[in-house]
Amino acid sequence: MSSHSENYDVLVIGSGAAGLTTALALAEHRRVLVLAKGSLDGGSTAWAQGGIAAVLDQGDTFEEHIRDTMIAGAGLNNRATVEYVVGNAPRSIDRLRELGVPFNAEGSALHLTREGGHSHRRIVHVNDATGWAVQEALLKAARASPNITLLPGRSCIDLINGRNAQRFSGAGTVWGVYALDEATGRVEAHVARATVLAAGGAGRVYQFSTAPRGATGDGIAMAWRAGCRVSNMEMMQFHPTCLYHLDVKNFLITEAVRGEGGRLLHPETGHRFMADYDPQRLELAPRDVVARAIDDQIKRFGLDYVHLDISHQPADFVRSHFPTIHEKLCSLGIDMTTQPIPVVPAQHYTCGGVEVDLAARTDLPGLWAAGECTQSGLHGANRLASNSLLECFVFGEAAARDILASWDQLAAPPAIRPWDESRVTDSDEEVVIKQNWTEIRRFMWNYVGIVRTTKRLERAANRIRLLGQEIEDYYGSFRVTTDLIELRNLHQCAELIVRSALQRKESRGLHFTRDYPDTQPVARDTVLIP
Ligand code: FAD
Ligand code: SIN
Repeated sequence: MSSHSENYDVLVIGSGAAGLTTALALAEHRRVLVLAKGSLDGGSTAWAQGGIAAVLDQGDTFEEHIRDTMIAGAGLNNRATVEYVVGNAPRSIDRLRELGVPFNAEGSALHLTREGGHSHRRIVHVNDATGWAVQEALLKAARASPNITLLPGRSCIDLINGRNAQRFSGAGTVWGVYALDEATGRVEAHVARATVLAAGGAGRVYQFSTAPRGATGDGIAMAWRAGCRVSNMEMMQFHPTCLYHLDVKNFLITEAVRGEGGRLLHPETGHRFMADYDPQRLELAPRDVVARAIDDQIKRFGLDYVHLDISHQPADFVRSHFPTIHEKLCSLGIDMTTQPIPVVPAQHYTCGGVEVDLAARTDLPGLWAAGECTQSGLHGANRLASNSLLECFVFGEAAARDILASWDQLAAPPAIRPWDESRVTDSDEEVVIKQNWTEIRRFMWNYVGIVRTTKRLERAANRIRLLGQEIEDYYGSFRVTTDLIELRNLHQCAELIVRSALQRKESRGLHFTRDYPDTQPVARDTVLIP
């Protein structure tokens, strides 16, 4: 085992929008080490399509952005967080422009597109590949900073806070993380005075997800095992329009297609079915409403998919607004300028996560968290489209500010125990990992999906219990690999999701259960305490 303790003040886990924003905001004053699983652009950030919500139009107001966010969130949002994020949005956009993100413009103003649940055009974007442009700009700035070191290919295993990767709860100070070097197979201790978790969401706990392969909830699971509260994990967002294709499983068709006039149609009759579910807002109703409507059509009529059709718009308009999607679909034999696109809902965003306050502080001294792995109070029971990249920028900056302000009170790390490999050997049964991974994702999709019942949730809970023993035995016996680390975390997150879903005795936002179809008068977070 080796230790990288000497050279860095702050350790950031994750190189997406949240992690790199934090690192850049710290770098003038502190030496920062950024660790990432796989490649530096492997998180959800690079995949974001639609854009970033911000009040920039003269006719728009902060109050309306706040209201739209709270309506989408079904009142579960924390109003102070919503005000804080919405109020800081224009500044975040300015900062990204300074970093060179080439947002689409119309004359001297930025072009604003529209997405479901927004009462105004409010989404700044770079064509239909906003996330890629943001990721590139942040990485370029980070690479240029002498105070930032980027270390890809490190799969973090567990936070260091007094014990060596064992399950416990408690409020010990966090001093960094144990991470697997994916190339050498060695486990290193990365030690720092302050640690920031920015490890993204847990989308891959579901069989169908728009999220990248590494979205296995590692940050949430690590924080939980270290003793942090985790909340609202039952609030899993399903995006209504993921491409349905036999070979391409997780290609998103941005909500902006509906924002620019795309219609949802029954694939056989051509009926514009959103009129039956939400006649006022139609395709621009919030995501939970649209996803449930599609799910209902698919189940009621025995369909494989529904159609999303924007072919009534001029072909040049479609091509220029959605160049990436147009090109991808053409490569699959679908011309969206003349044909409808087959779509299905898929898991898309983890609204719940590690509890943080407005300074991005977690429950543990020395540990901050930002981005999709957190529950900051912004999204409530359903995230409003394009509010999540925004949350990464605002909370990444908040974490950096708070770390700098509290620096003198943070103690220097003690000597850290080495990673103990004395009782493990190389695995001789990799098939166990694949089997368990597939099983979890399948029953989560079937039993803990868009429409839930108590019976199905209990079935899922039983399977999670059975798998838990097998996974812990395996973890205790064999050398860690990235697949094993991810399986353990997927299982942990599945357990947190199902436990939270069973606790919520109502339907609200993304959590819809047939057994409790009504919404309780008072909105309460589902807070799990380790
Ligand atoms: P990520 O960008 O996911 O980064 C996570 C980082 O953590 C990665 O670097 C990863 O390698 C690292 N990591 C994870 N586990 C470990 C580990 N064990 N050890 C070390 N490192 C680890 N939001 C919007 O606001 N607008 C949009 O238009 C939009 N479109 C989207 C489209 C798609 C297809 C998807 C999937 C999401 C979209 N979202 C959008 C959501 C948004 O992209 C994410 O919420 C946001 O990018 C999350 O950023 P993050 O920094 O928290 O995490
Ligand atoms: C999309 O482009 O539809 C995704 C937007 C988001 O997830 O916020």
